[in-house]
Amino acid sequence: MTKQELAYQMQKNASEVEDALQQLLPKENANNPLTQAMRYATLDAGKRVRPFLVRQFARLYGGDDRIAMRFGCALEMIHCYSLVHDDLPCMDDDDYRRGKPSCHAAFGEATALLAGDALLTLAFSVISTDPIATPAQKCSAVMLLAECSGWNGGMIGGQMLDLLYENKQTDEQILNAINDGKTGGLLRCAALLGCIAAHASESEMRAAEGYAKNVGRAFQIIDDILDVMGDRATLGKPIGSDAENNKTTFATLYGAAGALKLAKDYTDIACSAIEGYDGSDLLIEYAMMLLNRKK
Ligand code: IPE
Ligand code: IPE
Ligand code: MG
Ligand code: MG
Ligand code: MG
Repeated sequence: MTKQELAYQMQKNASEVEDALQQLLPKENANNPLTQAMRYATLDAGKRVRPFLVRQFARLYGGDDRIAMRFGCALEMIHCYSLVHDDLPCMDDDDYRRGKPSCHAAFGEATALLAGDALLTLAFSVISTDPIATPAQKCSAVMLLAECSGWNGGMIGGQMLDLLYENKQTDEQILNAINDGKTGGLLRCAALLGCIAAHASESEMRAAEGYAKNVGRAFQIIDDILDVMGDRATLGKPIGSDAENNKTTFATLYGAAGALKLAKDYTDIACSAIEGYDGSDLLIEYAMMLLNRKK
C-alpha cells in the first residue's frame, strides 16, 4: 500500500460518505434552523476517520460495504454531535470548528444543543432502519453504539472526566482513562461496527479492538500536540484551547517530543494487532498517516 493509494482511498471515502450523509440527513430547509444546524455540523467537513475505519474493517473481514457505509454514517453523526457539544461555552468554549464558526456560533446555543441531540437520535434510527443488515446485526450495532458513546467508559463518560480534571494535576493513568473514553470510545466503535457488518469472529474482533484502542490513544495525543503546535488554518480549529481551559494533556505532561514518542509506541502496538490479516496493510498505513497528520 503506497501513500498515494491510501490518499486515493481516503478521498474516495470522504466523497462517498458525504453523498450518503446528504441522503440520510433532513433535507435543506431555509425555514428550519434545527435541520440547517444539523446539516451545517455534519456536511462538507472533517476527515471522516470513523466511517473510513468502519468500512475498512468490514472490507478486511469480508463484509458488505453498503451496511458498513450506513453504520459509518450513523457513527459520524454521533461524532459530529460530540463536536457540537464539545465546543459549547459550557464545555471547551471554542467558536471555530472545521474551518468555520462552530455550530453554536452560527446558530446560537439552544439550536446547537438541539442539533447535537437530533444527530444523536437520528444515528440510532439510521442503524435500526438499515434495509440490508439482519435484525441481529442491527441489534448488535445499536447496543455497541450506545455503549461506546455512553456514560460508562464511552465518549460521554470520557468527556465528563475531561471536564472534571480541568484545573487539576493528572497523570498518565488518568489521561489514558479520559482519552480511552472521549476519543477511544468512538474509534473502538468504528472498528467493531465494521466487524458486525462482516459477521467477524471473536478473534477478528479482538484484533480490531486492539488496533482501534491504540490508534485512539495515539490520535488524541496528536490532537493535543496540534492544539499546542498546530496551524489554525490547516487544523480548522483554535490553537491553545487546552491551555485556556487548564487541561493537562500528554503534551503538557511529557512535552511535545515525549508525547510524540508515546503516540508512535501506541501506533506500533495498533499495527501489530492486525498485521497477521491479509489486506491489513491499508489500515497499517492509515495508522501511520494519522500519526503524521497536521490536521
Ligand atoms: C476531533 O476529531 C475530536 C477528537 C476526538 C480529537 P477529528 O480530528 O476526527 O475531527 P474531524 O471529524 O476530522 O473534524
Ligand atoms: C474532544 O477532545 C473529543 C470529543 C469527544 C469531541 P477535544 O476537545 O480535544 O477535541 P477538539 O480538539 O475540540 O476537536
Ligand atoms: Mg474537549
Ligand atoms: Mg474541544
Ligand atoms: Mg483537542
